[in-house]
Amino acid sequence: MMPQATHDELARQNFMQSLSVHVNRKMASGNKAVYEKVVKPNFEQKHQRYPENRHEILQEMETQSYYHWWSILKRFQQEMMWESVGASVERQLPDLITKAKNIHNQIGSLILDPNFQIPAYMTEVDIHCMPGGYHTEIIENDLAAGAVYDRGVYVYGRGWLGTLNDDMGHSVIQNYLQPHYPNLKPQKILDMGCAVGHSTLPYIDAYPEAEIYGIDIAAPMLHYGHARAEALNKPVNLSQQNAEKTNFTDGSFDLIVSHILLHEIPAYAIQNVMRECYRLLSPGGIMVHLDAPLYRHMDAYTAFISEWQTINNNEPFWSEMRELDLTALVTEAGFQSDKTTEAFIRKYSCKTPKASSSEKIPPVSVRPTWFVLTAQK
Ligand SMILES: C[S@@+](CC[C@H](N)C(=O)[O-])C[C@H]1O[C@@H](n2cnc3c(N)ncnc32)[C@H](O)[C@@H]1O
Repeated sequence: MMPQATHDELARQNFMQSLSVHVNRKMASGNKAVYEKVVKPNFEQKHQRYPENRHEILQEMETQSYYHWWSILKRFQQEMMWESVGASVERQLPDLITKAKNIHNQIGSLILDPNFQIPAYMTEVDIHCMPGGYHTEIIENDLAAGAVYDRGVYVYGRGWLGTLNDDMGHSVIQNYLQPHYPNLKPQKILDMGCAVGHSTLPYIDAYPEAEIYGIDIAAPMLHYGHARAEALNKPVNLSQQNAEKTNFTDGSFDLIVSHILLHEIPAYAIQNVMRECYRLLSPGGIMVHLDAPLYRHMDAYTAFISEWQTINNNEPFWSEMRELDLTALVTEAGFQSDKTTEAFIRKYSCKTPKASSSEKIPPVSVRPTWFVLTAQK
């Protein structure tokens, strides 16, 4: 199902990758130099101390033209990256829809809900500048958003998310579940906010006796994800549902996972998701929610750079989620605090970065760990 690129489309997508390296590594390290050599000493002179948090750093960095240049280029790079994939997907959309029809429901299943109410927090912005977000459908059987996301993640990630963009699923399995629960034999597994199933599919191979379910609010992601799973010969049951309130019965699952869902939904929705996990897990069942580190895990400068996502990249809940007391939300949902963990796990496909002397803060793409929030019922 992967959309294919013509020579010129590929050249454009490759250019977007090169520009991303330039902006996110080379230029980003210049940003740090501006901070260390100009902003920090100026701040110290004014306040007789260094900046203590990301807000203070932002206020001062906004006076620096280098930061503005970097920001503008980074935003353009993000928009152009989606555009380089979107135009290519649009060209081949009729063929992709036909392919999807031909492999429909052979080993897995897909249930879409024509009356589904998409939460406003997903429709009000084009999330991370992806035109139309995850949910927009323009033609019948539209799966363009899923196709754009699948190919776009390769262009964005430049390989660091794994061969099938499946690093997060493998990381949870290999570096959290297998070491902590070596005898786990789940019968039913649910992946919340599964998108096109990048992280869902590794659970099929790791737990071959389990039935695997994935839910998402976005029909085009599921539509594409279903065809993709069928094409890859992986049986999975996908349905269009809100993870805050699903139609599964109490205690249906032994394992519930999510991968980079939490930072894309508001705090009240995270709370609802935790309550829903508690309801859906069988006694002894486990949940694992993977995301990037929280602000309290970062120094002030790294947090300032991280917050760029909320301020400039249509990630409205990126910062909100990174400031939450997630353990408190989980225990409020019913889980016991001594059975709730916040941990770092190694990225499955990570090669430890070779830090160059000019690159003090490793770019997001080579940080070797994921953050996980876990609990056992
Ligand atoms: C960053 S993507 C997730 C990527 C995917 N889990 C993976 O590992 O490749 C976030 C997904 O969450 C979905 N989503 C957002 N809010 C949701 C909700 N309340 N319930 C279910 N899915 C949701 C979006 O439609 C989107 O597909």
